[in-house]
Amino acid sequence: MNTTLAFDVYGTLIDTNGVQVLLEKFIPNKANIFSQTWRDKQLEYSFRRGHMQNYVGFEVCTAQALEYSCKFHDVDLSIEQKEDLMAIYTILPSFDDVKPALEKLKEKGFRLFAFSNGKKTAVEKLLVNAGISELFLGVVSVDDIKTFKPSPGAYAHFLRQANTKSHEAWLISSNPFDVTGSISAGMKSAWIQRSSKAIFDPWEIQPSITVNSLTQLAEQLND
Ligand code: LAC
Repeated sequence: MNTTLAFDVYGTLIDTNGVQVLLEKFIPNKANIFSQTWRDKQLEYSFRRGHMQNYVGFEVCTAQALEYSCKFHDVDLSIEQKEDLMAIYTILPSFDDVKPALEKLKEKGFRLFAFSNGKKTAVEKLLVNAGISELFLGVVSVDDIKTFKPSPGAYAHFLRQANTKSHEAWLISSNPFDVTGSISAGMKSAWIQRSSKAIFDPWEIQPSITVNSLTQLAEQLND
């Protein structure tokens, strides 16, 4: 069977920088640091929820992390501004390299899936919006099993849904926690180091390959 590629969504296929642009309008002096807190807390909340086995949708983690960030940075956003920030998450664009790279990987014979902590409907909307939904065989969401990546159950769920085995599947992600999580679950994994400043965890688990874009991945990976 052809090799399966599971693409992480936020930060890997979809550019979350749009959130930053809106934050710069609302809080010009704190946009950068605020968005970092927001993203870090969003992930921390999903990890903690996974550990506690007290699941809520990823969008709830995002909304609660936004509230936390306002308190932490002493920022007073209106209800409408918060709604605008949450809404932009549902229509973010893909990175420029995504479509041509996915087309090339598909041509090379890989089976492509999107695999996200986000809900299936939210991910499908993003992929349709970005004009790339047709390139995937499917969207797999952890919402089906009410836990989050990097729980080993999340990767096992992906493999079942994609009808493949861990040694025949790669996880493609710019999120180090996702890369280590998938390798720990027996898959191979490519780390997309989109910024030279991005740091990979100095663990005993390291990416199968590291590239700086999906373009580079599409050139280097052969089925
Ligand atoms: C996702 C987030 C974690 O799409 O990037 O799963």
